[in-house]
Amino acid sequence: MKIYIGSDHAGFELKELIKKHFEGVFEFEDKGTYSSESVDYPDFAHAVAESVLKEKDGVGVLICGTGNGMSMAANKHAGIRAALCWAPEIAALAKQHNNANILVLPARFISSDLAIETMNVFFNSDFEGGRHQRRIDKINL
Ligand code: RB5
Repeated sequence: MKIYIGSDHAGFELKELIKKHFEGVFEFEDKGTYSSESVDYPDFAHAVAESVLKEKDGVGVLICGTGNGMSMAANKHAGIRAALCWAPEIAALAKQHNNANILVLPARFISSDLAIETMNVFFNSDFEGGRHQRRIDKINL
């Protein structure tokens, strides 16, 4: 599975840690940022969202300080369902009920271990379809 991943400066360290931890498990395409120098999170949210949308069943991970800015920017793209998750249980439901195609992590409010576990659960959960598909179909205006 190929995962498009991006962060701002606040999420840079966690992005690097995630890539290292899941080396050989997931293939990552890193859309930046590539250092801890201050940058603007929408640039990376849009880059990841566009890449995810170009593929059938594309998936991505976005990381910023709170996860809010990345979620707001990514969710401006029709077809993106970016879910801010800070616990494995939320990540499971984001996939099972919302069929989220981007996992957003709040680097300043989640431990590394919890972020790894949240990643694991998100990418090993399946969409349940049924009534949830009907609700997803009502998201885009
Ligand atoms: C950067 O300081 C911070 O504002 C950003 O990472 C994010 O939390 C925005 O939503």
